[in-house]
Amino acid sequence: MGLKSIAAALALLLWTRSFAFAQTQKAVYAHFMVCRIDWSSPMLHGCAYASLKVGIVENYTVDDWKADMADAKAIGIDGFALNCAPPRVDSYTPKQLANAYQAAGESDFKVFVSFDFAYWQNGMYSFFVRSLNYSSLPGQAKWNGGAIASTFVGEFFDWAPVKAVLPVTALPMLEDPIQATELHTSFDGALSWYAWPTDGGNSIIPGPMTTIWDDKYFEWLAGKPYIMPVSPWFSTHFNSKNWVFVCEQLITDRWNQVLALKPQLVEILTWNDFGESHYISGPQPHHSDDGSSQWAAGMPHDAPAPPAPTVDADGLVYWYRPTPKNTQCTNDTLPAPNGINLLSDSVFVTTMLTSPATLTVTSGSLAPVSVNVGAGIVTSNFTMGVGIQTFAVTRNDAKILGGDGGLKITSTCTTYNFNAYVGGF
Ligand SMILES: *[C@@H]1O[C@H](CO)[C@@H](O)[C@H](O)[C@H]1NC(C)=O
Ligand SMILES: *[C@@H]1O[C@H](CO)[C@@H](O)[C@H](O)[C@H]1NC(C)=O
Ligand SMILES: *[C@@H]1O[C@H](CO)[C@@H](O)[C@H](O)[C@H]1NC(C)=O
Ligand SMILES: *[C@@H]1O[C@H](CO)[C@@H](O)[C@H](O)[C@H]1NC(C)=O
Repeated sequence: MGLKSIAAALALLLWTRSFAFAQTQKAVYAHFMVCRIDWSSPMLHGCAYASLKVGIVENYTVDDWKADMADAKAIGIDGFALNCAPPRVDSYTPKQLANAYQAAGESDFKVFVSFDFAYWQNGMYSFFVRSLNYSSLPGQAKWNGGAIASTFVGEFFDWAPVKAVLPVTALPMLEDPIQATELHTSFDGALSWYAWPTDGGNSIIPGPMTTIWDDKYFEWLAGKPYIMPVSPWFSTHFNSKNWVFVCEQLITDRWNQVLALKPQLVEILTWNDFGESHYISGPQPHHSDDGSSQWAAGMPHDAPAPPAPTVDADGLVYWYRPTPKNTQCTNDTLPAPNGINLLSDSVFVTTMLTSPATLTVTSGSLAPVSVNVGAGIVTSNFTMGVGIQTFAVTRNDAKILGGDGGLKITSTCTTYNFNAYVGGF
């Protein structure tokens, strides 16, 4: 059984079973960070704030791209949104776009360019046209026959001159859904970046996630395609940005919201943004380190996925943070991230069961806690205790799966880490 991420395991289960098979134009994409990271921009984004000026996938080969695409396909993802900065920032952008399109074409996978307006500027039509020229290749993702192009911020960009020369379906990110009624930029639909609980911008509010933002995008897009964002987690700890969003059970809640709202498209945020801890890929061998290894190394967001897009075998995915939230770390140059007071100290378990069973979690030194869980996909939570985390599923008094979690929860730390450790059986 290969390693799969929790987000994608659930995507596979929930999405493919209930949704995509029925409506073939619909698709699930994952946001892929191609771009360089840089101090200079005040935007919320993985490549906009970080510590080293190096490329993220500067040295990716076509085979590296194919390996990521194979992993993504295996868990039900249809394509990547390629987050790119222009060549004046990243000299390797054209080469990596070419590599990605070649790999997609040879992998029966789809890609589209997502221009990162932390770097792009209005008026750069010639480079837009050159980048979008890849759209004639077989790897290009399409909507209604047009080549999809998207953005990170950049909602004021006028697509009309681009559309005059290329058959593009423009699905930019809109920072505020009301812009769908106000902008006259020839956009065809929109992406939202509100994948975490927030009142807007980067405000941190208690969970759980609601669809309050999605509902507005739906209303104001008035039938134009909506790319609904889905994310497993958010925590970051750079000196330029140091906060958490309250994610907890976000990933399971969010897929249920997707199934309820049935957007035209879904974008998973993200495939490989290690800096904000919302990656769902495994470690990428030729991916450079922006300083995020301090919290992403040894913290897989992977868990064994079931082999088919239905619950036809029993499985369990768990996730938890490495320390209780009030633990004082002893050797960090930064304070603890903002927002941690809103977190609960919990261990989360999603069971995927063919028939009801008993789930028992022993969290560190706390007494074992058993709950009865039904068939299907059920998420349960347990009070976090310091020590080894043990999981067991029993049915008719026989243990059917379980074992120890891959990371001990500790009451000491040197640097703050509010990322999640994900594993499964
Ligand atoms: C890419 O390879 C070049 C040449 O070997 C090297 O100088 C550069 O540091 C590498 N970039 C990254 C991001 O690893
Ligand atoms: C677009 O691609 C075609 C063929 O692939 C090429 O002939 C043309 O010069 C390209 N245009 C631009 C603007 O790069
Ligand atoms: C504290 O961290 C610094 C690097 O930030 C390291 O050089 C130093 O050895 C650490 N001290 C201890 C006691 O771990
Ligand atoms: C834990 O589960 C309970 C019962 O389903 C739920 O009310 C609560 O919100 C969950 N806690 C978290 C932090 O998600």
